Amino acid sequence: MKLFSIVSRATAVAGLILAVVTVAGCTTYPWEEKPTAPTFAQPFAPVDAFAQVAEMGRGVNVLGYDPVWTDPAKARFQPRHFKIIHNAGFNTVRVVLQSFDHMDSSNRLDPEWLKTLDTMVTAAVGDGLNVILDEHDWELCGKDAVGCGVKVNAFWSQIAPRYKDAPHQVMFEILNEPNQAMTPDVWNAEFHEALAIIRASNPTRNVVIGPSFWNGLEHLPDLDLPADDQHIIVTFHYYHPLTFTHQGATWVGPEIQKLSGVTWGSDADYALLNKELDQVKAWSDAHSRPILLGEFGAYDKAPMEYRVKWDSAVARGAEARGFAWAYWQFDPDFTVYDFSKDGWVEPILHALIPPSDKVSDTGR
Ligand code: BGC
Repeated sequence: MKLFSIVSRATAVAGLILAVVTVAGCTTYPWEEKPTAPTFAQPFAPVDAFAQVAEMGRGVNVLGYDPVWTDPAKARFQPRHFKIIHNAGFNTVRVVLQSFDHMDSSNRLDPEWLKTLDTMVTAAVGDGLNVILDEHDWELCGKDAVGCGVKVNAFWSQIAPRYKDAPHQVMFEILNEPNQAMTPDVWNAEFHEALAIIRASNPTRNVVIGPSFWNGLEHLPDLDLPADDQHIIVTFHYYHPLTFTHQGATWVGPEIQKLSGVTWGSDADYALLNKELDQVKAWSDAHSRPILLGEFGAYDKAPMEYRVKWDSAVARGAEARGFAWAYWQFDPDFTVYDFSKDGWVEPILHALIPPSDKVSDTGR
């Protein structure tokens, strides 16, 4: 833990060629003090993490793979989609940010990219949604934990002060799915550093943190959370069984890649789902931490009938245990919104938000 900390700071100093000051375990960067912050109608007021999870309810992952980040003229997702999301019955968006590609050689975020982010965050909050800012560079982080730590810290050194006056609906998720090189010890050390950076400007904003091993529920016990910080929401991701949810996906092992027509919904399937969600609930109760199921979904190649069954079982199972959830994802795969028709993929939407629960088309 300690070794990682020292190496990561040394790399930061050498690599950034910047005047970096380390104060009481917290790294500060020269640009940190002068964010050009967006303005919001409501001020920040702290909210209990359990209350915020109740408020977050149902959500969806957005914007991760949209061309808007490199060329706003090519955007598929428009700010108007936040209202469509809200009116469909969602309360939350998890904004998936692959920010490392938008940093310069000193890890400073591109001002144009920040402008796009501000536009999206202010529009989402304005449409009544909770917004999770999720740093999502999990692939690089799995390969190079030290290099990743430097960039994650630089990211939060810029984003946290920028959004310090945003209302409580805006939350920060330190890093999606730490994996491989981000072993539990390395990840515990890293998120403590990033959390200290966030806490310097946002002492009571709710921050989302999940375990190593791709936010797998089996690794919740490895999390070393600070007992004196109750403004933490713990997240996990759920894609079990992978043979069903990732059948035909190109980024998984060859055995799963070549699968097709795998079904889901036997008594044993439901029993496993309930057992695993109960495991998370037991951990949450034992540690008094609220839970966000931050990603779940079945790939488009799975048969629609069974995707619907699985999505609905997971969403209702999470709700029954008091977890907030965010479906993976709006678009472009595991798709719940079809940009070619500018409309919902209705069977998936209805599995997530039963039509009987919908209050009105104009908001709730
Ligand atoms: C990754 C996606 C992937 C999904 C399901 C996400 O965290 O960013 O690329 O499709 O998990 O595997």
